[in-house]
Amino acid sequence: MNLPKKVEIIEVGPRDGLQNEANFIPTEQKIALINGLNKTGIKRMEATSFVHPVYVPQMKDAKEVLEGIEQDPSIQYMALIPNEKGYERAIENGVRALSLVVGASDSFNLKNVKMTREESIKNFETVIAKAKDNGVFIRYNIATAFWCPYEGKVDSGLVLEMVKRIDASEVDEIVICDTIGRANPQQVFELLQSIAALKPKAIITTHFHDTYGLAQANVTAALQAGVTRFDTSIGGLGGCPFAPGAAGNVATEDVVFMLHEMGIDTGIDLQLLRSCVEMVKPLTNRELTGHFHKVK
Ligand code: COA
Ligand code: ZN
Repeated sequence: MNLPKKVEIIEVGPRDGLQNEANFIPTEQKIALINGLNKTGIKRMEATSFVHPVYVPQMKDAKEVLEGIEQDPSIQYMALIPNEKGYERAIENGVRALSLVVGASDSFNLKNVKMTREESIKNFETVIAKAKDNGVFIRYNIATAFWCPYEGKVDSGLVLEMVKRIDASEVDEIVICDTIGRANPQQVFELLQSIAALKPKAIITTHFHDTYGLAQANVTAALQAGVTRFDTSIGGLGGCPFAPGAAGNVATEDVVFMLHEMGIDTGIDLQLLRSCVEMVKPLTNRELTGHFHKVK
């Protein structure tokens, strides 16, 4: 197999992992989880989001979370934003790295952020210009890049077109998301190869949910296509309130375990990750979908 020596893990548990939990998780527990993750060797994470508190009440304490965590200067804490208002709130709260999101599928984007794909892209052009003036890091998520919960399979040509436009605005990272966890390794490999051929210099990260149990296979396919950055979520929590039927993200500890077994360095301590999984268990009523933590 053609494999890299080192891979970067981007922890999205505190944002993607928690946003879909029905019961409000007390702010102190969110802070404790992030502080726990700080010690594991993870160097980048999505800590929260500045979205509308009525639509995603779980994230209404974004400000308090960011104020409460022990911010390690060697770790990048990102906040997801859906629009310009989110940008303003994030900047007011000292955020230096943003995670923008646009759905490749119009139907999903309308449900998620109440804008068409085109409206979102335009809205973010303004945000990107401001962020660049401010020296803020920009990751740009293409949600529903493979499948949409409302429209079915997404045309890869559309995703390639989006990558081309986003890359032209010189963002720091583009994230290709299987928001509903419906992609298969072949689809993943082909799309990522096409992206690499189109934009060889673009920094590409992938984001897989595990609805059909294919997320680890998709990570492996992405590795084969040359991807070395993966979004994962502690314990396998995750999901989007506007993507019905989607399971959690691929579990951080499972991906780290697999990569280490394959001789690939992540810089992360698996046993410290295990203690973070223990912190996640009481935050949810659901059984965690990750595998590693079940093995004693
Ligand atoms: N944070 C907080 N409030 C916001 C906001 C944001 N990012 N964006 C808009 N608002 C407020 C506006 O200020 C306005 O307030 P007002 O009524 O007091 O004047 C109100 O919301 C309506 O503004 P509008 O731009 O029309 O928003 P909307 O109702 O169309 O909702 C979003 C759009 C994007 C804010 C909403 O759909 C949302 O928060 N989606 C988040 C989706 C998400 O988190 N998905 C999971 C991650 S991918
Ligand atoms: Zn997700």
